[in-house]
Amino acid sequence: MALLPTVCVIGAGSSGIAAVKALDERGFEFDCYEASDRVGGLWVFGNRNGRSAAYRSLHINTSRDRMQYADFPMPASYPDFPHHTQIAAYFDAYVDHFGIRDRISFETLVTRVQRLPDGRWEVSTDSGTTRTCDALVVANGHHWDPRWPEPAFPGQERFAGVQIHSHDYKGDDPLFFRDKSVVVLGMGNSAMDIAVEASFTARATYLAARRGAYVIPKYVFGRPLDSLGASPRIPFELRRRAQEAILRLIVGDMERYGLPKPDHRFGEAHPTVSDDALSRIAHGEITPKPSIVELTESTVRFADGSAVDADIVVYCTGYKVTFPFLDPDLISAPGNDLPLFRRVFHPDVPGIYFVGLLQPIGAVMPLAEIQSAWICDHLAGRYHLPGDAELRADIEAERAAMFKRYVASRRHTMQVDFDDYVLATKRERRRGERRAALAGHRLPVAPAVPA
Ligand SMILES: Cc1cc2nc3c(=O)[nH]c(=O)nc-3n(C[C@H](O)[C@H](O)[C@H](O)COP(=O)(O)OP(=O)(O)OC[C@H]3O[C@@H](n4cnc5c(N)ncnc54)[C@H](O)[C@@H]3O)c2cc1C
Ligand SMILES: NC(=O)c1ccc[n+]([C@@H]2O[C@H](COP(=O)([O-])OP(=O)(O)OC[C@H]3O[C@@H](n4cnc5c(N)ncnc54)[C@H](OP(=O)(O)O)[C@@H]3O)[C@@H](O)[C@H]2O)c1
Repeated sequence: MALLPTVCVIGAGSSGIAAVKALDERGFEFDCYEASDRVGGLWVFGNRNGRSAAYRSLHINTSRDRMQYADFPMPASYPDFPHHTQIAAYFDAYVDHFGIRDRISFETLVTRVQRLPDGRWEVSTDSGTTRTCDALVVANGHHWDPRWPEPAFPGQERFAGVQIHSHDYKGDDPLFFRDKSVVVLGMGNSAMDIAVEASFTARATYLAARRGAYVIPKYVFGRPLDSLGASPRIPFELRRRAQEAILRLIVGDMERYGLPKPDHRFGEAHPTVSDDALSRIAHGEITPKPSIVELTESTVRFADGSAVDADIVVYCTGYKVTFPFLDPDLISAPGNDLPLFRRVFHPDVPGIYFVGLLQPIGAVMPLAEIQSAWICDHLAGRYHLPGDAELRADIEAERAAMFKRYVASRRHTMQVDFDDYVLATKRERRRGERRAALAGHRLPVAPAVPA
């Protein structure tokens, strides 16, 4: 067999293990470094890596069938929206099923990655090792580095109560919210789950938002909403009209619940999914508010001039995309923005690949699986990228369409529609296979010849 490039994978969450499996079954020589003592990343509640955003009550909000890897279905005994413990167990079962656990170096944090003058990568870890590889696969996750409100609200430093980011909310102290006045900021999925949870024990729960969102249920017509996926061959506008009609019928206008009217149409923001939030609002257990403008020692003031006494503020304000091990002059994502070709290939830095660095409407895992197989094809010379001008034009077109469709926000910098991404990837891989064949399957990253 021809000599293949050597690879290093950073992270063994649900994205990294898909990469490890793909590399292993195609005979690549590789290392995978995982900071934790186990696989699963975010889905390991209380993960020893200190990075998991999971709270005790967390269930997935993309349905089981959407989230499972194509070649390893979740157990049929699982519910449609399993608990995080079941999801973590599933990732454990995946690595055991494919026999790849011993291909991962656990409790090994990658501290620094340097690009060498010959284009290879020098990877240093906290275990004191330094290895060199031809290609780097980055799968370090993008929901672990909390983004607090920027700039901070006036008075945040004076507030005498508790201020936490949703990342640090664990939900394992039943007294945490009890009899407290709680303000939850944000309209994403963290805000929904945490406001609902607070509302069962808090004295008062306020849900503060700077922008409205369409809160959609997990189930419609007795089935997971995301299983009613419309074909990517149907134009987006038609699909959207069908979804809007369903929502109008089942949920109605957000203003009827006292929530702000969204400043955008359905499909122009990452979905906010909750079966419970609207019900808790309708029961008077959550009170909608506009965004926070100021905190005093004991109060939170909102944009409409109203103020409430508060004991706890939970900032569900999202995450930063960061790569602490990379030189920021080489690669960084200011404002969460890292332009990539089809969310995998860097336009300027060959030999580095990203897995799971996207926000799908739909689940991440099957896309990470596709990306991993694609990277392997590329590294084996079976897939060639388009020429530079075409590649950059493709990135620009994709970004222009995304920024045109989505509300301007740091949470909308890498949105993809699941089924559209799968179809577009399939087509692009076919085109790239033809390019590779024309070029005689030349390897894009030359493997270093062993000494
Ligand atoms: C609360 C919450 C709920 C979510 N629910 C869903 C859902 O229902 N469906 C869905 O599809 N997505 C969901 N997501 C998105 C989530 O990002 C993905 O589900 C998934 O965790 C992504 O996997 P990942 O492997 O890319 O990242 P992670 O799960 O974050 O894993 C990254 C791994 O890399 C390791 N690592 C990082 N840096 C280093 C380093 N320097 N050296 C060594 N190891 C390193 C970490 O230890 C970790 O194990 C949710 C996100 C949040 C915050
Ligand atoms: N049950 C589940 O499966 C589950 C639970 C939680 C999270 N998740 C997933 O985890 C990811 C992160 O979700 P998330 O909810 O933590 O973050 P998010 O989707 O990034 O949402 C952040 C929210 O905070 C708002 N915000 C940010 N900065 C603000 C500021 N300074 N002032 C006021 N509002 C501000 C944003 O408003 P703008 O829109 O105006 O920017 C947005 O409403 C998503 O993929 C989500 O689906 C899933």
